[in-house]
Amino acid sequence: MSAAHEESPFQQAGLSQDASTQRPGMTELLARLVVPINHIFDRAYQSRYNPFYRSGTLAVGLLAIVFVTGLYLLFFYDVAAPYQSVRDIQLQVWIGRWMRALHRYATDACVVAVAYHILQGQVQDKTWGPRMLAWVTGVILLIVLWISGWTGYVMVWDTQGQLLALAGAKMMQSVPFLRDSLGQAFNGSTPVSASFFFMNLFLHIALPLGMIFGLWVHTARLARSVWFPLRPIMWVTGLALLALSVFWPAPMLPEADLFKVTGVVEVDWFFGFWLPVFSALSPQHSLVFMCVVLLIGLSLPWWWRPRKGREPERSVSDEDRCTGCRQCSLDCPYEAISMVPRDDGRLPHSRVDPKLCVSCGICSASCDQLAIGPPHSIGATQMLSLGEFTRSAAQGAHGTGVIAIVCEHNPGARRHLEGYAARHDGVQVYPTGCIGTLHTRILEQLLNECGGVFVWGCPTRNCLTREGVELLNLRTFHKRPPSVSRRIEKNRLELAPYSSAERKQVFARLDAFKSQLESPASPGTAYREPARGLRYLKAALATVFLLTATGALSRVTMGEEPTEGVLRLGAHIPGLVIEDCRTLSAEELASRPLHMRRPQECVRITPTYILTVKVDGELVVRREIYHAGVRSDRPLFLDEEVAVPPGTHRFVVDLRPEDEDLEQAPRMDFETEVVVEAGAIYLVGYDPQAKTMQLMDNPGR
Ligand code: HEM
Ligand code: SF4
Ligand code: SF4
Repeated sequence: MSAAHEESPFQQAGLSQDASTQRPGMTELLARLVVPINHIFDRAYQSRYNPFYRSGTLAVGLLAIVFVTGLYLLFFYDVAAPYQSVRDIQLQVWIGRWMRALHRYATDACVVAVAYHILQGQVQDKTWGPRMLAWVTGVILLIVLWISGWTGYVMVWDTQGQLLALAGAKMMQSVPFLRDSLGQAFNGSTPVSASFFFMNLFLHIALPLGMIFGLWVHTARLARSVWFPLRPIMWVTGLALLALSVFWPAPMLPEADLFKVTGVVEVDWFFGFWLPVFSALSPQHSLVFMCVVLLIGLSLPWWWRPRKGREPERSVSDEDRCTGCRQCSLDCPYEAISMVPRDDGRLPHSRVDPKLCVSCGICSASCDQLAIGPPHSIGATQMLSLGEFTRSAAQGAHGTGVIAIVCEHNPGARRHLEGYAARHDGVQVYPTGCIGTLHTRILEQLLNECGGVFVWGCPTRNCLTREGVELLNLRTFHKRPPSVSRRIEKNRLELAPYSSAERKQVFARLDAFKSQLESPASPGTAYREPARGLRYLKAALATVFLLTATGALSRVTMGEEPTEGVLRLGAHIPGLVIEDCRTLSAEELASRPLHMRRPQECVRITPTYILTVKVDGELVVRREIYHAGVRSDRPLFLDEEVAVPPGTHRFVVDLRPEDEDLEQAPRMDFETEVVVEAGAIYLVGYDPQAKTMQLMDNPGR
């Protein structure tokens, strides 16, 4: 017989729901995407080893691999010959080649882990309250990770590095005060210097090191934060990525050439996924787009949260009943409870800081005195809902019957368990919030009503309250206070932390539990894990899939074969700053404050210039050029690109002041005939000795 409640005992008792059931609609929507993916990997790896439930810690583990492999690569990298040194590493067939690939794939996997970590955080509503700090620092960590990867690809100085460097520089050039210096860096007028590669290397090392401090802040508000994943997960991930590196080494692309259009390039999608957006928008719009995405990410905790007035009520402590045992302050996953001294000689009492409390309810189960907890789960509330339950449904579970407790946050679990109860006699379903909030007194009282209590919790580390499963396990089987009474036989209690994708295992355990309650002495009723061979096969297939996806996304072909050549104007030309001075009259001088009395008053004039470019007599560029710099006193900066079809063409470039009467202002024109090849770049630069424009030499042409 089953008691298929439409409402949980909490709802039946007319009590408010806990934090996680007051989720914004968007969270539900996202959950529909993420939960099925979780379930696929629960089936493949078993939920307890599902790497996606440990995506934050997995990201740290992957960063550790990145550090170790990076240290090796550092010994061989040469800022004076970046491409050649990386090519030499690639030629070290025994170590260098796979070290380089492992460095790259571990970074890619880290991006995937962090992306999933964000999704999980959103689905579990871990965006608001004290987790805001983790959220905001997390976004910063992600940006730092991403910029480090970017600098890593620029370090290689192959066509991908060139593509990323140019795209980045173009975007930054749209910031006025950076326009001047960055424009020059990659236009080919000067070779990219060793000092640039040194700076780049410095950033590539310093940023990830800074992430260690960032991680410390990131987890500062969490009690007992875990930094590294389970060892088996770490080993399997490391070895799998190593195998990928050996069998599918990272590609070695052609060397960067600033006189060639990059054309078709194999790009690491995890770091270059935005390039199609960049080529569709102008650099300025791309930068704005990125800033908007960043702002949305940073501000998310302020709008992805329970609606105003629907926030769950925070935990409160009954100071009079508190005996000062400290257990709640030890258990709280967010360190929201402190012990406050009393003046009456008694032990300090607990006090909840509402700013740090997320209303998870864990403390409700910590207190032997039922003196603390949020209203939805405090001990008294739990007793009330237990009363409702025993009055309405528990009769069916008397004797050897089982009461099956299920966590409502485990998606689909309650439905499946109710289905099971409908098919089996003597099983009553008792839905509850997180099982870590379940007071051991409830378990004891339920055990008075039935033969045994079976608890279906969420998979470890996929818990809304972070440690619900572990805490219940410790309180039930390992004497963590308030532990289940010693008088109760522990074999009447079973804890099953599984996802609903593993319901077959849950049902098998429930069957075995029931049989063992009915005939304790009979052998062969114990639960048996699924066959190892099949488990390993499924895990291996999932790993191969993940590795193939990582390897493939690490080399996505982007861009098109160029069909045209490019005429590039890239030059710094000294302009003219004119001082227009006049002598002040005696009256004017007298009217000024003493410290401003100078006989002459000068105004700086920086002329505007007109740049025109003609290809075969046709005007293709006409632009006003201003002096660069905040005070408009820096040289003129030319930065133009014109696509030209292959063939012989005549280029005419002309620069002159808008005010033709300004005789001192420089004016120059340049004319040349060029046989244009598709994909080639023809740079017109400035020769300071000859004080003219000229076609710059490409060392490779
Ligand atoms: C390199 C990037 C990141 C790493 C290595 C990382 C790692 C971690 C680790 C190790 C934890 C503690 C896990 C635990 O003890 O339960 C954690 C918690 C957390 N992270 Fe991240 N994280 C990163 C980025 C992010 C990002 C981008 C976000 C969100 C935008 C984020 C949001 C959070 C939140 C909200 C928590 C607290 C979870 C909770 O309350 O249970 N993290 N992270
Ligand atoms: S409900 Fe209790 S355990 Fe949870 S955060 Fe608040 S004070 Fe801490
Ligand atoms: S667990 Fe209960 S008795 Fe112990 S300190 Fe906390 S509120 Fe006080």
